[in-house]
Amino acid sequence: MAVLVTGGTGFIGSHTVVELIEDGREVVILDNLCNSKECVLDRIEKITGKRPAFRKVDLLDLEGVRAVFREFPQIDSVIHFAGLKAVGESVAKPMLYYHNNITGTLNLCHAMEEAGVKRIVFSSSATVYGKPDSVPIREDFPLRTTNPYGETKLMIERILSDITVAYPDWSVSVLRYFNPIGAHVSGHIGEDPKGIPNNLLPYITKVAGGKLPCLSVYGNDYNTHDGTGVRDYIHVVDLAKAHLCALDRAAKVKGIEHFNIGTGNGYSVLDIVAAYEKATGIKINYKIVDRRPGDIDECYADPAKAKELLGWEAQYGIERMCEDSARWQKQNPDGYGE
Ligand code: NAD
Ligand code: UD1
Repeated sequence: MAVLVTGGTGFIGSHTVVELIEDGREVVILDNLCNSKECVLDRIEKITGKRPAFRKVDLLDLEGVRAVFREFPQIDSVIHFAGLKAVGESVAKPMLYYHNNITGTLNLCHAMEEAGVKRIVFSSSATVYGKPDSVPIREDFPLRTTNPYGETKLMIERILSDITVAYPDWSVSVLRYFNPIGAHVSGHIGEDPKGIPNNLLPYITKVAGGKLPCLSVYGNDYNTHDGTGVRDYIHVVDLAKAHLCALDRAAKVKGIEHFNIGTGNGYSVLDIVAAYEKATGIKINYKIVDRRPGDIDECYADPAKAKELLGWEAQYGIERMCEDSARWQKQNPDGYGE
């Protein structure tokens, strides 16, 4: 039996592949490398001693996806990470995002159906809650998004829900991630964004590494303990482990289930800056600037459902997340390089 991991050379996918291999599971990675590099496979092998099967295939190529299921008839479940994920880019290029994320997922489901594969874990996002009326956020909160990226997540959740109505023997686990950060403790794999990072931790690590001069803190007039935005940061290895729990659950339970994957703790931008400084001893230059359009005051999970039904709970705190991010940055100042 094997797990097909779409987007398996990406940030969260690569960490999940490591956990799957270390748990003794066979993995097949499908990725078109539009936002990741093939050398990630060398790093996975360095950590685990095993090289997963890899096929460079675009989910938009239905024939190519079908061929992977034909070549590996032992695939009995899918973890679906592949997708485009930059909010700002999705506003500028909505057709690219709808086509890649929606059509890609439809092709995947189509090929799964033909191959008789009925289990899928899908990467959704806390972005589906938009600006929540209150925190912590539970899975039954209203769903509303403010950008095409978030719309694709919501639409895919609905498509998967409809599939479980039409095919009651499918098992779908929708994981709504909060803010994944950190890196594998080895320092061999981590987040490698192209160009100037949009997200907080990659930006801080670039400032710490001297690649960028100063962090811009987007607003200090939010309704939070220090005025800066509060988020639920989760270690990417904790997040990766949630996928193994979701696969095990999907093997037992039919239908669709949704889970928040967060720690349940909210930290502000300045809390994270302080934690990074404490973990590394490096001073982070920052300046307060205007709010970033679309940002919200506070977003953190109620992770009780994942604890109860998946038996999953985050283990790592923000200091460890910062230490591991810093190790990755120090060992790989240019990420995976050219
Ligand atoms: P990533 O960009 O590092 O990984 C995604 C991978 O998918 C990349 O390797 C990319 O090459 C591949 N891909 C994209 N389109 C493809 C296609 N059409 N065919 C084949 N491969 C394709 O992103 P990540 O941070 O690892 O995120 C993984 C998933 O989790 C995404 O679906 C993302 O939307 C979701 N998510 C991420 C975050 C986050 O903060 N990183 C938060 C919530 C949800
Ligand atoms: C963003 C995305 C969200 C996605 C998530 C994880 C937006 C509006 N939302 O969420 O869809 O799921 O990333 O990838 O882009 N900050 C700074 N300076 C920076 C960068 C960020 O002050 O240079 C602040 C932000 O204002 C926010 C916090 O840091 O308060 C976290 O920002 P970020 O890492 O971009 O994540 P989110 O905005 O939560």
